[in-house]
Amino acid sequence: MQSAEIDYQVFKRKICSKTGLDLSSYKQAQMERRLRTLMERSGARCFVDYYQMLERDERLLEEFMNRVTINVTEFFRNPDHYAVLEKKVIPELLRRSSQLRTWSSACSYGHEPHSMAICLQEALLKTGHTILATDIDDKSIANARKGQFPIADAKNMPAERISRWFKQEGDFVVAHQKLRDMMEFRKLDLLKDRFPVDMDLILCRNVVIYFTEEAKDDLYAKFYRALKPGGYLFVGGTERINNYAEIGYLTPYPFFYQRPPK
Ligand SMILES: C[S@@+](CC[C@H](N)C(=O)[O-])C[C@H]1O[C@@H](n2cnc3c(N)ncnc32)[C@H](O)[C@@H]1O
Repeated sequence: MQSAEIDYQVFKRKICSKTGLDLSSYKQAQMERRLRTLMERSGARCFVDYYQMLERDERLLEEFMNRVTINVTEFFRNPDHYAVLEKKVIPELLRRSSQLRTWSSACSYGHEPHSMAICLQEALLKTGHTILATDIDDKSIANARKGQFPIADAKNMPAERISRWFKQEGDFVVAHQKLRDMMEFRKLDLLKDRFPVDMDLILCRNVVIYFTEEAKDDLYAKFYRALKPGGYLFVGGTERINNYAEIGYLTPYPFFYQRPPK
């Protein structure tokens, strides 16, 4: 092994024991490139040096975590795909079960579970649907739990939807209590933690792009087992599950994978 490779391997091991974050399941070339710019900016000469700086400086550690976990998100990301969700998938699921269990599995700042909560509320004015919203990043979860978003973030929702589900407070919009009551927020690392079970719908969007092929295969098989028969996995707008048939999924609509109904 070359010394640059050893340096990165040692860094990965140290980061894993300090933060629990396993960088080996993230694509190495891409991750190394992203971290190298941070490392060079901090003045470190190699990753092991950089690790020592992270140990001493909370702010640098936070910057590192943010770079790894890229939190970019928005309400109703890929509106066309949400339209399929609202017109096809949710009505089908509601025919099977009146109280749906949804999991937003990399929820970032909370735009995704809030979009989901709106879809469910508008599908049928029924109560009892639940949304589990998880992410690896504590800060994102804390943000998501507050249900408060910069007003500019709401721009891709029709005004009528905004006024129905949010209250304006200064430069922010705050989610209606009805939405917030449906959601439970929790930290969960998709690469190593136990998955919840009996889900009607799982959203896993715009996170696997950073994972290795093996990590993805494993993840999609675990989602399959976490779904009820007939349940759906909703993936990101650039994502495909190559071996979906091998795992057992059907794919009735683009970007939606279904565990076959019983
Ligand atoms: C680009 S955001 C996607 C947010 C949302 N799903 C969407 O599509 O708008 C990626 C999220 O994945 C989270 N993430 C990265 N690695 C993760 C892991 N191993 N387990 C759980 N979440 C992870 C990040 O913290 C970040 O909030």
